[in-house]
Amino acid sequence: MRAKDPNKHSNDCVKVAVRVRPFNKRERDAGSRCIISMVSTSISIQDPRDSQNQRSFSFDYTYWSHSGFIRDYSGLYVPEELGGRYADQDRVFQDLGQGILENALQGYNSTLLAYGQTGSGKSYSMMGYGPNKGLVPKLCDRLFQAFGETQDSRQCQVFFSMLEIYNEQVVDLLSRGSRTPGGLRVREEQQRGFYVEGLRKIPCESATQVEQLMEQGTRTRTTAATHMNANSSRSHMLIILQLKQIFSKESITKQSNVNLVDLAGSERQRSSGSEADRLKEGTAINLSLTTLGNVISALADLAVGKKVVHIPYRDSVLTKLLQSALGGNSRTVMIATLSPADICYDESLSTLRYAERAKRIQNRAVVNESPTERIIKELKAENARLLQRLSRMDHEGRRGSDETKELRQLLTHNELQIRAIQTLWEQHLQEALKDWEQQYANITQERRMMQMHPYILNINEDAQLSGVVKLFIQEGEWEIGLSDSSSRSISIKGLGIQDRHAIFRNELRHVTLTPLAGAKVIVNGSAISQTTELQHLDRLILGSNCTYLFIGYPSERGGDDWSRYDYEYFQSELAAAEGICLGESSVGSAQTDPSLLAVFYDYIKLMPMVAEANQMSKELGKGVDFKLEIKNLALSDPKGHDLQKDIVVKVTSLASKQVWIWSKTKFVNRKFLMEDVYQRYQSEQSDGRGAQGLLAVALPRDKDPFWDPVEPLLLGTAHLWLQSLAFRIPLEEQLEVLGSEGTEEAILQAQLVPCTSTGIPLGEDDILIDPSEALGRRLDFHLVLDQCCGVRWIREVHNRGVQIGFRLFDCSQPFYTPTVWHNVNPLLDHRVHFASLHTSQRLLDYLQSSAVVLELWGLQEGCSELRCSIEALKMTAEGITLIDQNSPPQATPVDSMRALQEDLEELKSINASLKKENNNLREQLNSARSGLEGVRSRSLRPSCDAEFARALKVFYHSMTSVRGQLQRLRRHRPSEESDLLGLRLFVDEQSRLLRDFSEQLELIVFTLKQDVAAIVRRKRERSGVWS
Ligand SMILES: Nc1ncnc2c1ncn2[C@@H]1O[C@H](COP(=O)(O)OP(=O)(O)OP(=O)(O)O)[C@@H](O)[C@H]1O
Ligand SMILES: [Mg+2]
Repeated sequence: MRAKDPNKHSNDCVKVAVRVRPFNKRERDAGSRCIISMVSTSISIQDPRDSQNQRSFSFDYTYWSHSGFIRDYSGLYVPEELGGRYADQDRVFQDLGQGILENALQGYNSTLLAYGQTGSGKSYSMMGYGPNKGLVPKLCDRLFQAFGETQDSRQCQVFFSMLEIYNEQVVDLLSRGSRTPGGLRVREEQQRGFYVEGLRKIPCESATQVEQLMEQGTRTRTTAATHMNANSSRSHMLIILQLKQIFSKESITKQSNVNLVDLAGSERQRSSGSEADRLKEGTAINLSLTTLGNVISALADLAVGKKVVHIPYRDSVLTKLLQSALGGNSRTVMIATLSPADICYDESLSTLRYAERAKRIQNRAVVNESPTERIIKELKAENARLLQRLSRMDHEGRRGSDETKELRQLLTHNELQIRAIQTLWEQHLQEALKDWEQQYANITQERRMMQMHPYILNINEDAQLSGVVKLFIQEGEWEIGLSDSSSRSISIKGLGIQDRHAIFRNELRHVTLTPLAGAKVIVNGSAISQTTELQHLDRLILGSNCTYLFIGYPSERGGDDWSRYDYEYFQSELAAAEGICLGESSVGSAQTDPSLLAVFYDYIKLMPMVAEANQMSKELGKGVDFKLEIKNLALSDPKGHDLQKDIVVKVTSLASKQVWIWSKTKFVNRKFLMEDVYQRYQSEQSDGRGAQGLLAVALPRDKDPFWDPVEPLLLGTAHLWLQSLAFRIPLEEQLEVLGSEGTEEAILQAQLVPCTSTGIPLGEDDILIDPSEALGRRLDFHLVLDQCCGVRWIREVHNRGVQIGFRLFDCSQPFYTPTVWHNVNPLLDHRVHFASLHTSQRLLDYLQSSAVVLELWGLQEGCSELRCSIEALKMTAEGITLIDQNSPPQATPVDSMRALQEDLEELKSINASLKKENNNLREQLNSARSGLEGVRSRSLRPSCDAEFARALKVFYHSMTSVRGQLQRLRRHRPSEESDLLGLRLFVDEQSRLLRDFSEQLELIVFTLKQDVAAIVRRKRERSGVWS
């Protein structure tokens, strides 16, 4: 075989293509905007938060698969019009697949990588869905076609392998036997480089056979996923095609490897994101993808002439196996897939940057010869030489000599070696083929059974793995569960599946399902405890999260579209049963609040993960319970605006009752780590170490993903509105402290007391009618927190404490009361004196429009209390906290112009009111002089003002209770189990509350109007205008 001169290799840059897919349902529901545009081979991405920020990149190929397509009668997505810009699967294959095919036929190693965030279309491009076949099946199809066409000139062999890398473990997807614990080993050999030891290679003779193998591989991947409780988005899938072509005429053998790689979703790399967690994300989970990024970066740097000391191929399994694909002997293509939606901006930008780096990588591909072939060739050559020498000796008449004997022995030895190598090789192939034939027979049998019996079909989070497992329910009784002890049991694996989980009965063409004691079975979103008849397309969830669609007898099937029952459908149905749903009308309507939609989708995404975490906690005896909560559902900011809602996970220790609140990202990270622990626990158990203390369970606390040090928790907030301070009116309030979801956590007694600089409360005569009178003057007040009553946090568990925290205006630090422990009605008696030396307009605006948000913090045994760092505050020697000290921010000329104009307007209006007042005084003076009524002007203003201030005070007090009523109305929701009657009662109650609310409001406004009218009347009477 002739290898090309290694020095004559070409330098091949990695070719990069970018593809953008259509909006998915979620993006359409959220009314997403497309932020990707393409012109020729350049692609631009628009920052949705900043219209000025647009980034452009250029690649070898760009594919617009976002719009301009239709679905034809066979389900194929094709361009709307001939020559339209929509890039279908054929176009992508023409550009990328064809090149790979030609390379492989020429004897080059080739690699195709798909990179992109979860759900961006990697598997769609690589494998395809239904009739829209992807690059891999198309490639195989054309490969065998090419072989068929050139049958006379060459002999060809194709070997197919399929593997998965999950958590740094290699799983052979074509192996039937039980999984090797810890996965297959990756070894290195001088000649071969890195390879997977014992990986199955199946000889293939047709494209159909390859497709069947892929089907088989996907099936193994699916079961492995449920088995390991893994999410396929986090695993890498590799298909390796080994091509061997023997050109007998030229006596050349060419051998090439084609690696086809569907990478894990890229965003997992950064899933821990900005929030720091005590435990780093399980390194192994992302190791392969992170290392791939590092290798690509190092190679890209190398290509632009930077000095690179080390390329970390050896740091992960994936990069070991892809070593030749990146910077080595391979022609490599990367397809980067993008979501078009604005909500995916950050991910898409990062994918583009990644792709940009990848395109700089330079490879050095050469035409290959196989080592086996070379050894045989060398042995044969040696034999030829030996024969030549022998015949020469024969000529020279030196037969029978020792040397001839030796040569003959060597010759025989070589021939035996050749035969041994060939036989071993053939044996290996025969075995693999036989094995595969058996597996294939199973697939054929399954197809037949689908036409005869009802069955359940697996539904996976990864659409690529849905519908792969079919479990048939033939006539009679079938027990489903972990156990496969009898011939009438259907064995499934998964979290929360019991040995004996449930019974399917198929009698007279009716199928029923009966859960066995303790088993969790959900049908169409609701848990069942009794025998339930199944209908075609019913949704089943067994255990924590094994999801199946029930398919009835063929006669019941009709032409329905099963694809709508995807994983998201199952989870939405479950969430709806818990009372978390978006009405039909709101989904897809333009008015749906995108943030609410995001919360809803997060909720249904996390729901199965929480169920799994609970199950793992139970099995590992961790004694913690996880529960999803919506943060800020009922809470608002200091201006009363709703706060951004988000999902959090409440973690409760069942024994100590300690509580933690984890953010979404922290929970996701911890869940990865829990899976890791759980898998180790399972393998330890299967190794027979069940009885002793299991290593995985007995983790030290600082490594335990189920545990965290306790911290103070924000239990709820109450609003103390500051408006009265602007008028120097004291305020005393009983405030309801509301929890995140609107529950009453406590009642808090608080006061705002305007006072003198020495802290003496002001009297009614100091009340202001117009707050602007306070402008530029000193303002002092006390914020008093008297007592908390009925604290739920302590009522539930006595061994706890509380603190109140709050922020005020421009203070850099929050304030905290000291902690009070073990008391349901803790006395706080906390008083802070605040002062502004020169009241600014900003402070006045703040007082009139904002509230102090009083936060109730819960403390648990062992957690340190919250403290206010006094050093950062500005305080007088008397201990008065100064606020409103900051000079306004640097104004631009335009700003100062505007400010000047505003000042002018204000001065004008002050001038006008002064004039009015002046006239008034003059009139009063005249009337006093004329002796009509001896009212001294000086006494008139305070008495009127005091009356007015009192009226205002009444008004503000009443308004506070109305505000409370409004909050109650907002929180008022029907109960989760409400039926029609329940809903009617709810509506009645709601209208009663509304009626009360509007009556109260009317009454308050009416009283205020009356008071003001009375004051005005009195004032005019006194001033003698009305006689
Ligand atoms: N070009 C496309 N045209 C039409 N539909 C597409 C296209 N690309 C992706 N989709 C659809 O988007 C969904 C997600 O795609 P896919 O399964 O390929 O994502 P993925 O990148 O492999 O995600 P994961 O990382 O989770 O495996 C699928 O339902 C698929 O049919
Ligand atoms: Mg995929």
